[in-house]
Amino acid sequence: MTLWQARLDSAPDKALVAFTESLSFDRRLAPYDLAASIAHVNGLARGGLLDSSERDTLVATLEAVGQEMAAGKFEFRSSDEDVHTAIERRVTELAGETGAKVHTGRSRNDQVATAMRLWVRSELLEVVAGLIGLQDALAARAVEAGDSYLPGYTHLQRAQPVLLAHHFLAHGWALARDVDRLFDCLDRVDVSPLGAGALAGSSLPLDPDGVAAELGFARRFDNSLDAVADRDFVAEALFVVAMVAVHLSRIGEEIVLWSTDEFGFVTLADEFSTGSSMLPQKKNADVAELARGKCGRLIGNLTGWLATMKGLPLAYNRDLQEDKEPLFDSVDQVGRALVAVAGMVATMRLNVAVMQQAADSPYGAAIDLAEWLVVRGTPFRQAHGLVASLVKESFLRQVPLEELVEASDKFGVEAVSLLAPGVAVTRRTTPGGAGPVPLRLQADAFARCLEEEASRLDALASRMKPVIPPFR
Ligand code: ARG
Repeated sequence: MTLWQARLDSAPDKALVAFTESLSFDRRLAPYDLAASIAHVNGLARGGLLDSSERDTLVATLEAVGQEMAAGKFEFRSSDEDVHTAIERRVTELAGETGAKVHTGRSRNDQVATAMRLWVRSELLEVVAGLIGLQDALAARAVEAGDSYLPGYTHLQRAQPVLLAHHFLAHGWALARDVDRLFDCLDRVDVSPLGAGALAGSSLPLDPDGVAAELGFARRFDNSLDAVADRDFVAEALFVVAMVAVHLSRIGEEIVLWSTDEFGFVTLADEFSTGSSMLPQKKNADVAELARGKCGRLIGNLTGWLATMKGLPLAYNRDLQEDKEPLFDSVDQVGRALVAVAGMVATMRLNVAVMQQAADSPYGAAIDLAEWLVVRGTPFRQAHGLVASLVKESFLRQVPLEELVEASDKFGVEAVSLLAPGVAVTRRTTPGGAGPVPLRLQADAFARCLEEEASRLDALASRMKPVIPPFR
């Protein structure tokens, strides 16, 4: 039975049920729906709409339903339109007339918005934890890398040598912005819609503030229409996890390249490699490729959801039910990707000798020659031109750059020392630069950033997590 059958003369057609149900994918909201229902029941009792024995019965029944679900003993029926219907149906089966009071002053519109916000809060905190896990792996590899270096690239052409630690931390900082975005998004998610009803609030003495506080929300809604119609928090969550996926994709792409015979910069651990069903010699980087590949799907989930929302008049429309599958999918995928990429990064072998050899070309120090002239008074544009001519000549006549520098009246033997292997990277001394001197400060700053993230996560988790008693 649907919750709304009394209005209609005939039962819903099978085709309607099959097309409109959400139970097949929204049952994972059950713990949050139960927590919100318990808070709602407590609010009804505070308003005098339930006496204390009715309240106790309803709370105990909701907890019992939670236990049935946690034990896998809850029987969903195909006639349960969604998880909210299933729970109310079961509460009424178990608690009779008292059960029939649970939906007092409430609509599935504010109910589903509340459950979604509770779900998003808890899951985004898991994504933060996953991000911190990957950042830890990157930071550990940065420490291990010490003063080793590799070519830094622009346009995927060798540009200047950079410390390997600097490269790892570059990805770490991008992920730090993702963490920051998640915390920021969580702030807007942290609003209780319960008490908005179908769209307009209620004539009954509800207690939206008390319910919000019991669920650990920072505040309640300001406008009932907005409370049930708003899903920009879903769009925002989809964007932030898509951004995480874009970052994972870029890391993945690099590792695909680095693990080729052509680069040879890293060798993936066997636990994080796959083989070929046909070619016996193959060792493939499927984790890195899927970190890249799944990103497309997450971007699709975001754009699809934005398109669904764009035409909806206030307030609730059934279209809003379409928020769930893309959001669940994106959050699930990014959670798995973070763990897999962290494992791959933590276990890959760094072929430092290969990286350094690739970075040791004297051309990678061409800018150091130009800057050598600059500190001796040559305007930069002229210095750039002079060095570029030497480089061109070196390629054209196949003469080592060192020889031309030594023979040049602008340079001489002192300048040749700039071109020796391992020298250029040590000369990047400005704040945030790629050399060892600024790196020490950067590494300290990154360690502090990780500590701050962990303490913000702890503070939020203690408020946002313990609201699902039957599933704790
Ligand atoms: N399953 C629905 C959803 O996810 C619940 C709300 C149904 N509300 C309604 N007025 N039909 O949006």
